[in-house]
Amino acid sequence: MGANWQNHGTQSTIKRYGALFLAHTLVKPMLKLLEMTGNYTWFNRLFIQKAKEYKASLNFGAYQATEHDIFVCCYAKSGTNWMMQITYQIAHLGNGKYESIHDVIAWPDGMRGIVPLDDPTPLANSPTGLRVIKTHLNWDKVPYSPDARYIAVVRDPKDVFVSSYHFAKSVALGVLMPSPKTWLESFLSEAFFFDSWAEHTAGYWANRDKDNVLVLTFAEMKADLSESVKKVTDFMGVELSQEALEQVVEKSSFAYMKNIDHKFYPGAVSPFADGNGRMMRKGQNGSSNELLSTEDRIRIDDYMRAKLHELGSDFPYDELFA
Ligand code: A3P
Repeated sequence: MGANWQNHGTQSTIKRYGALFLAHTLVKPMLKLLEMTGNYTWFNRLFIQKAKEYKASLNFGAYQATEHDIFVCCYAKSGTNWMMQITYQIAHLGNGKYESIHDVIAWPDGMRGIVPLDDPTPLANSPTGLRVIKTHLNWDKVPYSPDARYIAVVRDPKDVFVSSYHFAKSVALGVLMPSPKTWLESFLSEAFFFDSWAEHTAGYWANRDKDNVLVLTFAEMKADLSESVKKVTDFMGVELSQEALEQVVEKSSFAYMKNIDHKFYPGAVSPFADGNGRMMRKGQNGSSNELLSTEDRIRIDDYMRAKLHELGSDFPYDELFA
């Protein structure tokens, strides 16, 4: 798993408290002053740029997709773990077991501690001959084969924003997390850590009519989990007994997944974060007003609509999210 700074012995503890001391006494007050200037490019420069450069080096390399592969291709904080759980349980006929989801699902563009793409174990252990691969990459960065299958979940970017704020605080920025206002300026810029929501969405949407591509929305999964699981099961070409289907639905419910949150949560990746966050936070659709004003929500809608338009996408943004 990602380095959890709380579990790495005395040396790490000293480093962590040293870093926290500096963060509280020096860095945080400086950041507050910078925030007061109203110029936000400093945030992307200080915190995002380097991390993004590193992230860009993580990719599929020369991997060639096969008929065994089920790619779960979601924009971050859009229900990736949810779809990983659904597809993994379907591939394992409702009986999938693991200590950490990252031990059984490869994530080539992810950080450390994840089962490598070329590890044969996940496929060897799969009773259906299907293995799940996680990626946040855009369509054109994922190896394509007409024999492989690709599933994207699209979530309202306003909810993505809120979810990403809490998540970034808990795994990475911790005490150095800026205000939601600063995070929003970053979200509505080309420099945002998780790349562009609009590009990601436009890419998968443009390919939705292919037989081996399935695009679902977070909202429809929330509205009818059973129906969504059936759709994914058919799409994967797996035949499940009624009992197995019910097991998949049960194991993909928010309550079930929240109960085993530690199997999804990656742990802190920096000494500033406490690592006590949760992957299954609220799991709601359309509740972005917990962090965003009406004006902020309109700003996100306007920005994403315009970006999709620029990309020539016919994704029905207003129908689904505005
Ligand atoms: P919130 O932070 O809004 O609660 P990802 O896996 O892409 O990081 O997405 C995480 C988001 O998906 C979190 O949103 C989490 O609660 C939500 N989620 C995960 N599993 C879910 C489930 N079974 N039902 C509803 N929401 C779920």
